[in-house]
Amino acid sequence: MFIKPNWRILTIGDGDLSFSASLWNHFKPAQLTSTVFDSQQTLEDKYQHHAIKQLQTAPNQQVLFGFDVTDPKTWAKLRNQSFDLVIFQFPLVPAFEDPEYFHTMGDISINTLNRLLLRKYLIHCVEYFLDPDGKQLCYITSKDVKPYSEWNIENSLNQGLEHIHYLGSMNFDINKFPGYKVRNVDRDKHVKDTQGITYAWSPKIDSKDHDNALLEALETKSHQRKGYCEICKAGPFVSTSDKTLHEQTKKHRLMQQYEQQYASVLLNSQPI
Ligand SMILES: C[S@@+](CC[C@H](N)C(=O)[O-])C[C@H]1O[C@@H](n2cnc3c(N)ncnc32)[C@H](O)[C@@H]1O
Repeated sequence: MFIKPNWRILTIGDGDLSFSASLWNHFKPAQLTSTVFDSQQTLEDKYQHHAIKQLQTAPNQQVLFGFDVTDPKTWAKLRNQSFDLVIFQFPLVPAFEDPEYFHTMGDISINTLNRLLLRKYLIHCVEYFLDPDGKQLCYITSKDVKPYSEWNIENSLNQGLEHIHYLGSMNFDINKFPGYKVRNVDRDKHVKDTQGITYAWSPKIDSKDHDNALLEALETKSHQRKGYCEICKAGPFVSTSDKTLHEQTKKHRLMQQYEQQYASVLLNSQPI
């Protein structure tokens, strides 16, 4: 993950604050605001080990609880701050206690809900959190396992959003973040460390607006590599029949269904 020490950073949806604490200790940002979806009480009840005290006693930083990135009403304490970089590590919508929720949401699949969460995250980063005169970067770290691999992150999140550009992806090396434990969304478990990928977006598309070192660290869209499937990243295909065989697989057909569900929700939703 490419980070410069003088950046002002906002973290979203940190489970037990161990990511933000590690970021603070090892990357020395100029300013750090760490946010948690849960209330402080819920976090303390959920996780036996957390980094609340460690962060709350550090200078130039702030910890906010009950911060829902989709809901501006929960951001009151952000005090008009703006940032160079916003980071959301291993995002995942929480499990729904109320089975009626799906009906009120029009029976939208969890896959679509996760895509919509991240789409809103990108929109809110660009419209509210990033300093227009700053570095203007939004990162999402994900991994190549289900459900993450079923969101077509590179292509679907900023679909139709002309002011948010996908820049590319880079390796996420957890060893650079000592003490960080990737948390399960709802339980006091930490997820076993798998290879992470950090995806980057920005309202700035021109390469002269970004650090050369960042651009060098980024790989371009995998679907742009010739001979690969645009939605599953499978490939490279050696022939047309190889590609046709892939398109008949269960995996490809399921991904097609997810793409269609998401496209139809975007089509029928209010412009956001
Ligand atoms: C798999 S956990 C990862 C937690 C943490 N980022 C980590 O890397 O350990 C997914 C996180 O996304 C957060 N999340 C889900 N929906 C959110 C929302 N609307 N706003 C902010 N955070 C959210 C959850 O609270 C949860 O902490």
